This record gives sequence, C-alpha cells and structure tokens, in this order.
Amino acid sequence: GVAAKIAPSMLSSDFANLASEAQRMLDFGADWLHMDIMGLMVIVLYLNRHFVPNLTIGAPVIESLRKHSKAYLDCHLMVTNPLDYVEPLGKAGASGFTFHVEVSKENWQELVQRIKSKGMKPGVALKPGTPIEEVYPLIEAENPVEMVLVMTVEPGFGGQKFMLEMMDKVRTLRKKYPALDIEVDGGLGPSTIEAAASAGANCIVAGSSVFGAAEPAHVISLLRNSVEE
Ligand code: DX5
Ligand code: ZN
Repeated sequence: GVAAKIAPSMLSSDFANLASEAQRMLDFGADWLHMDIMGLMVIVLYLNRHFVPNLTIGAPVIESLRKHSKAYLDCHLMVTNPLDYVEPLGKAGASGFTFHVEVSKENWQELVQRIKSKGMKPGVALKPGTPIEEVYPLIEAENPVEMVLVMTVEPGFGGQKFMLEMMDKVRTLRKKYPALDIEVDGGLGPSTIEAAASAGANCIVAGSSVFGAAEPAHVISLLRNSVEE
C-alpha cells in the first residue's frame, strides 16, 4: 500500500543510547526506524576517490536493538555484497532489507528470494547516478521487490543537500506503479518534503532534520501530513 511511513535515520542518533533513541522516535510518532548499514560499497561508489571510511551499523547492533524494541527496522544495505548479510540480518531481527541495484546486477533474484525466505521485506535502492529503468525488472519480476529506495543524496553521510532532480525518478515510478512503496532518503525535512510528497514518495527517511530539531515530534507530524494530504 502507499500509506505514509516516516522513518527517522538512526545514523543521526546517539549510538551509545540507541535503544532509548529508538524509543524516543517511536514515541514521537515514527513508523519505522531506518538503519544504515555501511561498509565497502560506499568506497566503491565514490569513483572520484572520496573514501568514506564509515563503518556504522551491522547485524550485532540490529540484534541488540531488537532485544529492546519491536519496531520495524528498515535496513538500508550500503555494502559490496548484500547477499552475505541476508542470513545474519534475518537472524538479528531486521524487518526490511534494501540492497543497492548497482552491486546486485547478477544476483538480485537470489537475493530477493532469500530475503523473503528470512521473513524480511525486500527493497531495492538506487544511487543518484543510476537510471530508474534499472529497477523495473526487479519490480516486474515474478518474485518482486516490495519497495524502491530512491537516494536523494550520494550514499555516505547524513546532513547532505537534497537533490531535487531525483524527483523525476519518483514521479516516473509512481505513475508506473501506483501501489508501490517508494522511499526517499537524503536531505528530507520540512523544506523538501513537499517536493518528495507531491512526486509520489510515501516512505520518508529523515536523519538530521528530525534529530537536529528542537521538537522532533513536530517534524515527524509535518512530514506525515505532507505525505497524507
Ligand atoms: C545516507 C543515508 C541516509 C542518511 C540520511 O547514506 O542513507 O539514510 O542517514 O540523513 P539525512 O536525512 O540527514 O540526509
Ligand atoms: Zn539510508
């Protein structure tokens, strides 16, 4: 369905207090918790050799958080070999498993099948330079992905500027697939949500705009209202 899902990105949280940060976001009205699982892929993606030595959350962290929370854990895999993480993340209690199309050209069918067999929701992400057509086969497959994550910044860090041009991808997807979950990730907040919502995004990841706000609950409800109106 295309109900609004507001997903604070825990990359902007206080990692030393992850469980209470997660609970705080749920209390503020979050639907999902977005978990950025980063590793080598980010380095590969930065072809201009901007290394991003950003090892963040892995299966052990998901497993620990799962012990404290029943929340939907929306995992965004920015790694070179997502297949290696299906089993550990499934065991750890991940809810959604979104892999990047750029590193899964050969094995996406196997990935989707394994993700589903572990009881997780399969999603595919694409970075800003990747044409939207590349995800069509995954949506139209017999065993399809159930969400498309359109990156609206280059993967790597929170706090970057929203790329408005990416809304063409969202509009094209929404027109073609009226019931698809379409997630946007990067630079979302009160000043960019209108563009994303009117293009047709329904799953909204927001890191710095939520965690940096004086009143995160207010930002979360503002994001939700924009998507639902
Ligand atoms: C970027 C991550 C995002 C990031 C978003 O690589 O995928 O999830 O945390 O952060 P903001 O909302 O601050 O751009
Ligand atoms: Zn993300």
